[in-house]
Amino acid sequence: HGRVTEIRKRVLLAKPRGYCAGVDRAVQTVEEALKLYGAPIYVRKQIVHNKHVVSTLEKRGAIFVEENEEVPEGATVVFSAHGVAPDVHEQAKARNLKSIDATCPLVTKVHQEAKRFAADDYDILLIGHDGHEEVVGTSGEAPAHIQLVDGPDGVDDVTVRDPAKVVWLSQTTLSVDETMETVARLKTRLPLLQSPPSDDICYATQNRQQVVKEIAPDCDVVIVVGSKNSSNSVRLVEVALEAGAGAGHLVDFATEIDDAWLHEATTVGVSSGASVPDELVMQVLAHLAERGFGEVTEYTTTEERLSFSLPKELRRDMKARD
Ligand code: F3S
Repeated sequence: HGRVTEIRKRVLLAKPRGYCAGVDRAVQTVEEALKLYGAPIYVRKQIVHNKHVVSTLEKRGAIFVEENEEVPEGATVVFSAHGVAPDVHEQAKARNLKSIDATCPLVTKVHQEAKRFAADDYDILLIGHDGHEEVVGTSGEAPAHIQLVDGPDGVDDVTVRDPAKVVWLSQTTLSVDETMETVARLKTRLPLLQSPPSDDICYATQNRQQVVKEIAPDCDVVIVVGSKNSSNSVRLVEVALEAGAGAGHLVDFATEIDDAWLHEATTVGVSSGASVPDELVMQVLAHLAERGFGEVTEYTTTEERLSFSLPKELRRDMKARD
């Protein structure tokens, strides 16, 4: 009988992937608060945009709410990694809540930029996704000065008072390439548009996109682990497709992988968003191994070493306990 050439099925595993320093800190903040003050701990909005993280913390005694009004007076509330507008801090004070701010320091940096440019009376063009919590929080720093530009198609609607005094800022989790396209279009209308003093799209977003871009051309399908409301995770699928992956899918769990995606595939790329615990990626690898994709090559573009200390209000109470 004729010899059938064995097709080598393989997985290209992207690195860096998964948890960034801001997510790690935010999740740890809720865990430490539970230990320190005991359950329940209230969390305003999903602490990070990941289903599994939220349900795990719920089991341990975290109660997720949409707004401060749902938190009993005097209770402890944690603000999510995406940041909050100043009025959210004020409401918390008015309700006598003990608040712990788990806003990622790299989001806080964008808030500071917004405040500074608003104080100098600039028009600020905030590139980001309409309705995303981070954009709501950042806009709240200077609502009179900030207008949202939701991608390249939002450029035509922009109006400014003085074209010589305009700066763009951005959400931290956007597609780098799409943002550059938006900026290029803005500059054709506003040649004097200034850029942010440093990158607003954070290191974790950039690094995860970079590695996916490099592996995508070799992949018949790229599977990104992440939740549908996770901006940076959704971007990873877009970046993979843009960079030449045959197909791209976002899944919360391994069980969502459709066997049909793998039928014609020999190389499967795997990555995960910044809010995704690596155990979920390991479950995806196990799932793929059972379907013949047992050979895994990790493809690394850079090593990440950044970490952030816990919010100071929490550190102070931890110190008092010890
Ligand atoms: Fe912060 Fe970027 Fe993560 S802004 S929360 S380090 S995705």
